[in-house]
Amino acid sequence: MTAFRVAVLASGTGTNLQAILDQLQGRDGIEVVAVASDQPGAQALERAEGAGVETGTFERGDYEDREARDAAIGDWLTEREAELIVLAGYMQLLSPSFVERFRHRIVNVHPALLPSFPGLDAIEQALAHGVMVTGVTVHFVDEGVDSGPIILQRPVPVPPSRDLDELEAAIHATEHALLPEAIRLIASGRVTVDDSSRVVRIDRE
Ligand code: GRF
Repeated sequence: MTAFRVAVLASGTGTNLQAILDQLQGRDGIEVVAVASDQPGAQALERAEGAGVETGTFERGDYEDREARDAAIGDWLTEREAELIVLAGYMQLLSPSFVERFRHRIVNVHPALLPSFPGLDAIEQALAHGVMVTGVTVHFVDEGVDSGPIILQRPVPVPPSRDLDELEAAIHATEHALLPEAIRLIASGRVTVDDSSRVVRIDRE
């Protein structure tokens, strides 16, 4: 059986990438084949190299515009025959043509229960709003900001202290379980998207 080929885009520390490498690499028929970043110094690239995964850097300044940069990333991923593109702390908006090219083949992890608190600083937004429960969402990427079809969600209670660091730690721990779980489900062919309703169905047998 040929492996299901996963690529990861990351801008920062890459703890979600590390969770994917630790939990999925070479298991359940999954292979992480490439990691790309917009940030040449991203710790995520070091983690990939440490795991023997090929890396690429695509700095915005090296391309005429976002469209051109995204086309280069897309070509690089296609050459590596990536079947799924995972955004793990990738802090750039992808151009609509990239989203169209890889429709329902790009997933993102977001630190809130969407559609609540999309965009940046989702954990801070949730605390400022006074919620008692927030959580993590894994969703397909569409042309909007954190607006694509939802694959998995898991709640995380806000601790009584309402301390940002404590909540962040709980959310990150949940991300590190939920994102690999979603990738495993997709790789096993059990996730389908209804195009008209945008509802995701998971065949859990
Ligand atoms: C995560 O909190 C993720 O939800 C958000 O960016 C953060 C990335 O963290 N999109 P890391 O780089 O995986 O450590």
